[in-house]
Amino acid sequence: MNLTLKIWRQNGPDDKGRMEIYPVQDINPDMSFLEMMDVLNEQIIAEGKDPIAFDHDCREGICGMCSMFINGEAHGPGRRITTCQLHMRSFNDGDTIVVEPWRAAAFPVIKDLATDRSAFDRIQQAGGYVSVNTSGNTIDANAIPVPKTDADRAFDAATCIGCGACVATCKNSSAMLFVSAKVSQYALLPQGKVEAKERVRKMVNQMDLEGFGNCTNTGACEVECPVGISLENIARMNREYLSASLSSAE
Ligand code: SF4
Ligand code: FES
Repeated sequence: MNLTLKIWRQNGPDDKGRMEIYPVQDINPDMSFLEMMDVLNEQIIAEGKDPIAFDHDCREGICGMCSMFINGEAHGPGRRITTCQLHMRSFNDGDTIVVEPWRAAAFPVIKDLATDRSAFDRIQQAGGYVSVNTSGNTIDANAIPVPKTDADRAFDAATCIGCGACVATCKNSSAMLFVSAKVSQYALLPQGKVEAKERVRKMVNQMDLEGFGNCTNTGACEVECPVGISLENIARMNREYLSASLSSAE
């Protein structure tokens, strides 16, 4: 396949940035999108120029590092896949493909297509954990009965890989889908109920401090999420937050 790539180049957070055009030849349709980017980078390096910076790690849809906005869609045209799971056979010979970084004030560009998503880490650190009593009276987790439906919903929420596609897709740059998945995975389980009120308050407050926008129920995040995190998690988080706010007002 021969393709024309229009790729966002930005030297650093303070650089204005610009689109640059790169023609690539003889791309194998069975290559992944990231492998195609590797081929392009080898070409750029051979020309003595600066390769394109982009994030990646596992390359199998698990880590959430790969983050490209391809032809106006987070993780490209496929559904329920990450950029590293997108293959070149999804495109046609002769196509022009536009590649940009996640765009959100809370995810500043580090370089080219790589953005700083440490805001998610700080939200997670604010409350995305359970404390365990290690005094000797700890109950074995396997001995705590959990209804199957709750366990399934908690597991579904826990599959969020923290990629940030929901934020990049949302017109408000809202992080509600991510935060609600992290809140839900604990709120649904008995182990998470002990700190539930404090958790939701702290995580939502940190989300606001990081500068993410609010949710206006557009639903684009759910469509573009590579693991299918459901909007029902946002509804659950709103209920949890309301209940925590009312109890702190008592
Ligand atoms: S909710 Fe989906 S899109 Fe958002 S960070 Fe988690 S996996 Fe990525
Ligand atoms: S590189 Fe890990 S999910 Fe894509």
